[in-house]
Amino acid sequence: MPSADRIAKYEAALTFAQRQVQALIERSPDFFPIYTTGGRWHHAGERWTDWTGGFLVGMMWQFHRRTGERAWRERAEHYARLLEHRQHDTEVHDLGFVFLNAYRPWYELTGDRQLLQVIIQAGRTLAQRYQPKGRYLCSFIGPHSLFIDIMMNVPLIQYAANETLDADLARVAVAHCRTTRDCLVRIDGSVAHEGIFDTQTGKFLCQSTHQGLHAESAWARGLAWSLYGYSQMYGLCQAEEFREVAQRNAQYWIDHLPVDHVPWWDFHADLTLPPPRGAQKESSAAAIAASGLLDLARHAASPVLAQQYRAVACNMLDALVDPAYLAMTTPGWEGILKHGVYHTEKGLGVDESVMWGEYFFVEALTRVVLEPWESQDS
Ligand code: GLY
Repeated sequence: MPSADRIAKYEAALTFAQRQVQALIERSPDFFPIYTTGGRWHHAGERWTDWTGGFLVGMMWQFHRRTGERAWRERAEHYARLLEHRQHDTEVHDLGFVFLNAYRPWYELTGDRQLLQVIIQAGRTLAQRYQPKGRYLCSFIGPHSLFIDIMMNVPLIQYAANETLDADLARVAVAHCRTTRDCLVRIDGSVAHEGIFDTQTGKFLCQSTHQGLHAESAWARGLAWSLYGYSQMYGLCQAEEFREVAQRNAQYWIDHLPVDHVPWWDFHADLTLPPPRGAQKESSAAAIAASGLLDLARHAASPVLAQQYRAVACNMLDALVDPAYLAMTTPGWEGILKHGVYHTEKGLGVDESVMWGEYFFVEALTRVVLEPWESQDS
C-alpha cells in the first residue's frame, strides 16, 4: 500500500492538474492544444499530425472518476462530441488515442450502445490502414511505414473485435502486433520507432526513426508506447506472446532508467552534449511508462514482477510530482508537467508540456489514488 504521504502528494498534483485544465478551457473554449511554447499552449503553426484531442477529454473523465463532480462529466461529454467526426478519419493512425480516451470511459460509464457504435466505427476505420502483404497497420507517413506508436492504437481494433465478435478485426489486430514485435522490438526489449517495408512484396526492409536519435537507438517514448500497448493487448486478448513483449520492454526500461527515475529523450542520447539532442529529459515518456507499468503489474507473470513494476512506476511518479517537473510553483506556466518533448528534429514542443504527458500523468496518479491495493508493496 502506498504511504499516506505519497497519496497526499499525488492528490495535490491531481488537484493542480484540474486547476490547469479548468483554466485552459475557460481561457480557450473548445481548443485542443498539443504542446506549449515557453509554457503557454501553442495555438498556431505546425502540429505534424492531429492526434492528441482524446487526451484532454481523457483527463476530464479521470477527474470525474476521482471527484464524482458532474461538471467534469459534462465537460468530457461536450469535448468528446467535438471529436466524434474523427471516427471516419482515414488520415491518421491515432484513432485509439482519440476514442479509447474520449469515448471508452463514456461508454463504460453509461452502457449507451450509440457510444459503442462510435468506438466500433473508429476501430473499423483504423483497420482500413491494414497492409495485407506486410501484415501491419501503416502510419500516416504512407503504406510503406509502420510506427511503434500504433501499438497504443491497435487496442481500439481489438476492443471493437471483442464487442462485435468480428474475427477479421481480431486477425488484423493480432497480425499487426506480431509484425511490430518481429520488426521493431529488439531482443533486448528496446524498440525502433519505424519500420520500412517494400509495398510490392510486403518484405520488411529496415528500421528507421522520425523522433528518436537514429534508426538503431531507443527513443524513450517509443519504448513506453510499446510497453503499454502490448500490456493493453494482453488485457484484451490474453495472448501470452504479447505479455512477453511488454515484459521485455519493461525490463529494458527498468535496466536503463537513470537514477533520478526520469528518462532522457532517447536511451542512446550522448549526455556529454547539451539539449535538445543531448541531455534532454522526457517527462511524458516517464508518465506513459508509469501508467503502463501499473497496467502491466495487473497482468504480470509473477507477484515479484508485479511488485517491481509498481515500485518503479511510483518512483517515476514521485519524481514527476516534484517541483522540478510539476509546474505548480512555476508562475505563468499553463501546462501541468514540464520537460516533455514532442519532436526534437522538427523543434516542436521540446522541453515543454505536451498533451499526452499531461494525460498519462493524470491517469497514472489516479490509478494509484483510487486503486491503492494495486500499488501495494511499492
Ligand atoms: N506521434 C506520437 C508521438 O509523438 O509519440
